[in-house]
Amino acid sequence: MYALRKHWLCTRETNYKLFINKIGKVNFYRLNHKEKSYLRNNKLFLINFITSKNLKIMKEKSIELLNKAVADELSAVHQYMYFHFHCDDQGFDLLANLFKRRAIEEMIHVEKLAERILFLKGEIDMTLSQPVKPVHDVREMLKMAAGMEQGSANDYNNWANECAQNADAVSKKLFEELVGDEENHQQQFEDEMENLDKYGDNYLALQSIERSKNNSGPAGA
Ligand SMILES: [Fe+2]
Ligand SMILES: [Fe+2]
Repeated sequence: MYALRKHWLCTRETNYKLFINKIGKVNFYRLNHKEKSYLRNNKLFLINFITSKNLKIMKEKSIELLNKAVADELSAVHQYMYFHFHCDDQGFDLLANLFKRRAIEEMIHVEKLAERILFLKGEIDMTLSQPVKPVHDVREMLKMAAGMEQGSANDYNNWANECAQNADAVSKKLFEELVGDEENHQQQFEDEMENLDKYGDNYLALQSIERSKNNSGPAGA
């Protein structure tokens, strides 16, 4: 990244320059012909104009977005464990395990986000973004879970772009990695919804029967 003049920054890749105003709002402008030529000829000097104030503002934005993600991930952990308990209680082992595994993966997401927040010298806010919803119907559980994953993937896509605009490539990369995971989760929940649509309640009954068979195995097994 190279500096044009105080508070003006530009990147070789994008041909854009950005200006951070006093309240921290970032504006982007295209480089003019002369500036492009300077950049091509390496005549711009290495940046030393990112003021400590601007750097702090850029970091704070990333920390805010990372904490929003922590709140969403924590809500997903709690919601999925709630679904796990109820599926387990009804004998639907396959779905109970699916929700438990997803909850553990969301917890790993929290860990990655928290590590990044601490690296940026921020504080981790462990507040949930929403309370656990008492949903007991399996189809409703899967629908809600798929919707949560889709919402997270959309948010993380947007937040990756915001981090890029704030010159925070590492947070951007982290959000992009999470988008991939959330899209996979969404697909898994949608696959289970399809199974339910295809096989109806027999799909759930089979899971209960399977558990009964396992529980009635030979004594001491
Ligand atoms: Fe996640
Ligand atoms: Fe997820």
